[in-house]
Amino acid sequence: MKRINIALDGYSGTGKSSTAREVAKALNYTYVDSGAMYRATTLFFIRNDIDPRDHSQVVQALKEIHLNFDDNEINLNGENVASEIRTMKVNEMVSHISAIKEVRQEMVSQQQEMGHFKGLVMDGRDIGTVVFPEAELKVFMTASADVRALRRQKELAEKGIEEELSAIKANLLERDQIDSNRKESPLVKAEDALELDTSKLTFETQVGKIVEWAKSRIYES
Ligand code: DC
Repeated sequence: MKRINIALDGYSGTGKSSTAREVAKALNYTYVDSGAMYRATTLFFIRNDIDPRDHSQVVQALKEIHLNFDDNEINLNGENVASEIRTMKVNEMVSHISAIKEVRQEMVSQQQEMGHFKGLVMDGRDIGTVVFPEAELKVFMTASADVRALRRQKELAEKGIEEELSAIKANLLERDQIDSNRKESPLVKAEDALELDTSKLTFETQVGKIVEWAKSRIYES
């Protein structure tokens, strides 16, 4: 059977990651959370006090960062950092670190390698535009800021992290702003992406919709 790559892009908190994971499961594909790679890189920068404006420090840090996924959970130099990358501290820094050209080049090249054999669902901001511009299916997910903030609060609460709704919303809007206006591969909808507004959709419906689109691409001649 033909295998395809699926690019799922969109704003923070639209449910991309959980949706992508379920879509991958339904198709028996590999899921890659590209945001987790930027987050783990950010965590390394925080822990090692790397100055993002210092080019040589950035280049050296990138040489010391080794990322891999183990059972969908990201490892930073062999340590599982899946929970630590979701803290507010990382949230506050990640858009700044992921705006650095050298950081993006390194992440994009690792991501492209993962997609070489197809059968991948990757979610992020630039997957359909930069990482896999030839992806057979591109989806751009949106949702209102209030819905996104509520979802993120619930997700954090499930992990035992309590955050004020207003702080979460402010952080989401700030990240939208930085992600959409950065010089290096800003968040934009690819021309050939299908848009999915998830504000009023149940999780099952949004997953089902994407699986349906994927199947029609897989079976089309
Ligand atoms: O999807 P997320 O919220 O975990 O992503 C965290 C940050 O990483 C997001 O604010 C922007 C950045 N990011 C990016 O620049 N490009 C990607 N492909 C994925 C994430």
